Amino acid sequence: MPAVTPSDGPVAVTGASGYVGSHVVVALVKHGFTVHACVRDLNNPDKTNHLLDLNKNNYSGHVELFSANLLEADSYDTPFTDCYAVLHAGTPMGYGRANNPRQIYDGAINGTKNVLNSAKKVGTIKRFIYTSSFAAIHHPMKSGYLFTEKDWASDNRENDPNWSVDRIDEDGVMAYAMAKVDCEHIVYDFAEKSGQFDAASVCPIVVLGPLLSRLHERVYSWQWFVGQMLAGKTCEREWKSLWNIVDVRDVGEAQALMLESTVCKNGNRYQLCATDELGEISVLQVQAHLKKLFPKIDVGGPPEEIHKTIEKYGAVYQAPLAHCDRARKELGLKTHAIEDTLYETGKTLIDLGLVEPAFK
Ligand SMILES: NC(=O)c1ccc[n+]([C@@H]2O[C@H](COP(=O)([O-])OP(=O)(O)OC[C@H]3O[C@@H](n4cnc5c(N)ncnc54)[C@H](OP(=O)(O)O)[C@@H]3O)[C@@H](O)[C@H]2O)c1
Repeated sequence: MPAVTPSDGPVAVTGASGYVGSHVVVALVKHGFTVHACVRDLNNPDKTNHLLDLNKNNYSGHVELFSANLLEADSYDTPFTDCYAVLHAGTPMGYGRANNPRQIYDGAINGTKNVLNSAKKVGTIKRFIYTSSFAAIHHPMKSGYLFTEKDWASDNRENDPNWSVDRIDEDGVMAYAMAKVDCEHIVYDFAEKSGQFDAASVCPIVVLGPLLSRLHERVYSWQWFVGQMLAGKTCEREWKSLWNIVDVRDVGEAQALMLESTVCKNGNRYQLCATDELGEISVLQVQAHLKKLFPKIDVGGPPEEIHKTIEKYGAVYQAPLAHCDRARKELGLKTHAIEDTLYETGKTLIDLGLVEPAFK
């Protein structure tokens, strides 16, 4: 299918109010697209104001808001009408136990099927971009393994009891990864069978960078843990291994580039992760960056046990290693530096009043 450009017509974004979805909208508007931004609740200013404010800038694109629900069939028929692409970033997430593992899995699958059906029905869609996750790539491998888009979370799991549909109700992490793997296959197969549009995916990993709304601070999200550190608290998340960090602005930009790409075709996936080893860092290194970037704050760090781990093994577990080489080479994605990403995360958390910094 040919690339989609702003002159073709509007494009639609599901989950447009969310952290990732909002940055997809920003990137598209900067590229000059008219964006049908789909949110559930048009009456919640925390979900809509930052999107409508984009129309006050001098961007060549424009945002129009639509209301739709992933869990209702046909809900996207109206928002997708006249659109040339769908960027499907919405899904019921588990932040702060908002949804249980079954709701995460079923919501992803049923929501994606509903969106695909609407995309097919309107008849004008040429490209479909699915926000998958690095969870669909990552699978148990030895320390030091470099993941690429050829990897699937389902690889070598035939006899692995930890990877089973029977465990969806009890294991949210597995349910999320399985949902992402299954949804990717669903969108590629659906697109191929429909013959109407190509489908491709992005697989982001640890997403950080500027928050645009107070609602982008979801409890237990990566950005929430950065906020905890700026509040001087201990960071309990993934301190035994590496944070492999991608900027949320790069996750948005990559998707705009995918629409306009003449190379991107059905089944393509782009892992969105660190540019290089500078973005693959332990929580201790995240803390060190934050201390430099916010010198007046007494920044919290990982639990003390990390020092015992480092003493015993020399370093934290060197995983997951992965670089966004394909997105940079094929799409021409230019990535943000890790210092910029961490600074903007912290600054916006503070500016939005989401964190009370632990000033020295
Ligand atoms: N953040 C990360 O580190 C990360 C990493 C890898 C992949 N991802 C993927 O990125 C996507 C967005 O995640 P996020 O971190 O940006 O989460 P988020 O801020 O919670 O965004 C989720 C979005 O989904 C929408 N949504 C949920 N249930 C819905 C429903 N029933 N109907 C319509 N919309 C619904 C929400 O809309 P409402 O505002 O209406 O609730 C929200 O806009 C997800 O697919 C996630 O798997 C995120």
